[in-house]
Amino acid sequence: MSQAETAPEGTRRDFIYYATAGMATVMAGAAVWPLVNQMNPSADVQALASIRVDVSGVQRGTQLTVLWQGKPVFIRARTDEEIAAARDVDVSDLVDPNAENANLPEGVPATDENRSISEDSVWLVQMGVCTHLGCVPLGESGDFGGWFCPCHGSHYDTAGRIRRGPAPRNLPIPVAAFVDETTLQLG
Ligand code: FES
Repeated sequence: MSQAETAPEGTRRDFIYYATAGMATVMAGAAVWPLVNQMNPSADVQALASIRVDVSGVQRGTQLTVLWQGKPVFIRARTDEEIAAARDVDVSDLVDPNAENANLPEGVPATDENRSISEDSVWLVQMGVCTHLGCVPLGESGDFGGWFCPCHGSHYDTAGRIRRGPAPRNLPIPVAAFVDETTLQLG
């Protein structure tokens, strides 16, 4: 007796059904892709685009990292201790005394208030790119409880300001603003 003859009726029907459905999916995928691809913005439009990020799930003391314009952006909801530590620093002691905040006039001092994106000072939004040679720093690390870049040993504090190591500048703060309580717009 052949295998086809021994297979229960339902099994053969199911096989044909799944095989046909699978084929349809593949064909539909092949037809849709060029259309979707055509609708994608060109690289230069993408580079300018702004994005909105839902930060409702970010608890105090945690960080969300999103990719924007091909680079990581750290979005951190800081604890009271982190804010206090950042405020307990004299700006004249900083390697880079500039806020490096694209939302403020150039050259404003790198106080903690000028680094945070929100009135309550909880939110810190910064590019996750070391200002030395571009590595991605690690969070909650380093000698100042902020970020640490393991590539050549740069330490950033809880306001993302460079405090020790070869990096010359604070982590840059991009154009960013809250459009409502839980939605952050980058760009
Ligand atoms: S790239 Fe970060 S310390 Fe060199």
